[in-house]
Amino acid sequence: MTTTQPQAGPRQRSLSTYEGWNDFAERPPRTRPDTLSPEQLAALSTQERVEYDLARRQWHANILLRTRQVQEIELQLGDILDSNLQDADRVKSAAAIDAPPALGKSTVVNNFGRVFHQQRIAEAGEWLDQDRDVRHLPVCHVTLTGRPTIKGLHMMILGFYAHPATAGILHRSMAGRDLARAAAECIERHDTRLVIVDDLHFLRMNTRDGVEVANQLKWLSNEYNATFLFAGVALRKRGLVGEGQTGEGAAMAQTFRRWTVLSLEPFTLTHKRGRDEWDRLLFGIDQALVLTDGRDGMLVDLSRYLFARTTGNIGSLMDLIRRGASRAIRTGRERIDRELLDDIRIDEGAETERRELEAKLERQIRNQRAGRRRKNQDGEAAAA
Ligand SMILES: Nc1ncnc2c1ncn2[C@@H]1O[C@H](COP(=O)(O)OP(=O)(O)O)[C@@H](O)[C@H]1O
Ligand SMILES: [Mg+2]
Repeated sequence: MTTTQPQAGPRQRSLSTYEGWNDFAERPPRTRPDTLSPEQLAALSTQERVEYDLARRQWHANILLRTRQVQEIELQLGDILDSNLQDADRVKSAAAIDAPPALGKSTVVNNFGRVFHQQRIAEAGEWLDQDRDVRHLPVCHVTLTGRPTIKGLHMMILGFYAHPATAGILHRSMAGRDLARAAAECIERHDTRLVIVDDLHFLRMNTRDGVEVANQLKWLSNEYNATFLFAGVALRKRGLVGEGQTGEGAAMAQTFRRWTVLSLEPFTLTHKRGRDEWDRLLFGIDQALVLTDGRDGMLVDLSRYLFARTTGNIGSLMDLIRRGASRAIRTGRERIDRELLDDIRIDEGAETERRELEAKLERQIRNQRAGRRRKNQDGEAAAA
């Protein structure tokens, strides 16, 4: 059996280890492949064509749009970090992004973390000592998987730093508080200022000790000398984030960090502002696509259709567009239109809502037109 080396460079490593995170945070920005004319595309050799298509697919896979919601969240998070860094003895704040799946939580926290990482490295360098023994790791990032307990969360934080406790059986004999102490030491030693915990909803919460888990989480974000940023689904509802007022929580609320819980919403078309934002998003994607027969406004023209297909969910939208772009490249169609997209299926949730929503939107458009006609007639009648 022969194996071929991937041309695309090393596979992406897990963002839950410092090496993987550093790769992600320090990778230079990608450059957009040139948009060739159909003639230029036809003139490429087989090898050139393979490389060009690969570059385009990778580019499309990494399109990142700074939507209004993303910008607002980044601003808020920036404020929280700044004030935590400046006032050592003030009550610190922790932040959480609480939103349904596929609305861009991970995208937003990862990119925020990456910018912060770069800024801190520029300020304080890559190493914290002269001998280059201790790396500067401004951000710790873990994504929870399985059903970890709080102890498991400490382990994952230690795992990020490749701490020896995670390698052997040592941790089995270590008590939760020793693991917590070891994790706190890593955070201090590497001057970590931001700890991102993604998919927090996977944290195991038994009904019996759910409050206990939530309190431990609050302790953790309070005790560690870094800003905690959580992301997950229904965090507030589960009682995982926010100002807990249960049990001892009520008395301790004063000393705990202030929580800022932010959310991400799907796009809507019910107001003009929402429709404009949706169209701006589509125009942004339009601009980013590299297809030889594409044109400006190609997706904006499909605005309603794309909304019906994706229910205004950015994850479903990007999924649909990426698949569409890949197919347009593969089949030589080199543009995205309704006929091409009609054939592409995306996640089940979006597909089941599609028919209903398409019908509803058509009704809305009909009603708007009828309303406008009535207004015009009234206006004419009044003028007459
Ligand atoms: N601002 C954005 N720009 C481009 N694509 C985005 C953006 N936000 C989310 N996406 C896309 O949507 C999908 C889901 O995003 P993700 O961050 O994983 O959501 P969540 O963590 O909320 O489940 C991903 O494929 C991602 O590429
Ligand atoms: Mg996510």
